Amino acid sequence: MSNLAIFASGTGSNAAKIIEYFREEPNIRVRLVVSNKATAPVLGLAERNGIESMVISRAGFYETETLLQELGARNIDFIVLAGFLWLIPPYLVRAFAGRLVNIHPALLPKYGGKGMYGMNVHRAVKAAGEKETGITIHYVNERYDEGDAIFQARCTIDAGDSPEDIAHKVQVLEHEHFAPVIERLVSSGQQNEPSNH
Ligand code: GAR
Repeated sequence: MSNLAIFASGTGSNAAKIIEYFREEPNIRVRLVVSNKATAPVLGLAERNGIESMVISRAGFYETETLLQELGARNIDFIVLAGFLWLIPPYLVRAFAGRLVNIHPALLPKYGGKGMYGMNVHRAVKAAGEKETGITIHYVNERYDEGDAIFQARCTIDAGDSPEDIAHKVQVLEHEHFAPVIERLVSSGQQNEPSNH
């Protein structure tokens, strides 16, 4: 059994898809939702699904390593960032090397980096006149959007598409691919593990 933690600060539509996808999966379960925003809708989503959630503070996250104990106490094996915008501190990157992934709403390395999230990305893609965009699922390191890419999917951009239209196309890709890619990564980790929780 592998336990996932989802870190999210937004509406949580990706978190919702992931929770739904793993609901009937015997070997992988969403054990914890972590947010840096007490008002994030994703917290209500966790509650409705009977999943424990936790709100973290900036000071706690960057100046202590107590989150590691919290994750350890819940046997968290794998962390998924789904709309979590804080840079991940080195202690967490190290502890979860190869077990910490993010989804980005563009084809990295283009349109990544600090400040590149949500609609900012889609507006930049539109302004540049791109003919395609997509999603990137990647490992997380200490720099924004620079960890090794694991998976990309693409969609075309039509001349008349607004940034909102682009956002919608990208979200469709995110909802289709994120959970299955997580499943693949977690399952291959389970096969490499001598023992599971
Ligand atoms: C997603 O589109 C995700 O790719 C993006 O935040 C959105 C969260 O949506 N993440 C980034 O931009 C990270 N740089 P959601 O709350 O509906 O899942």
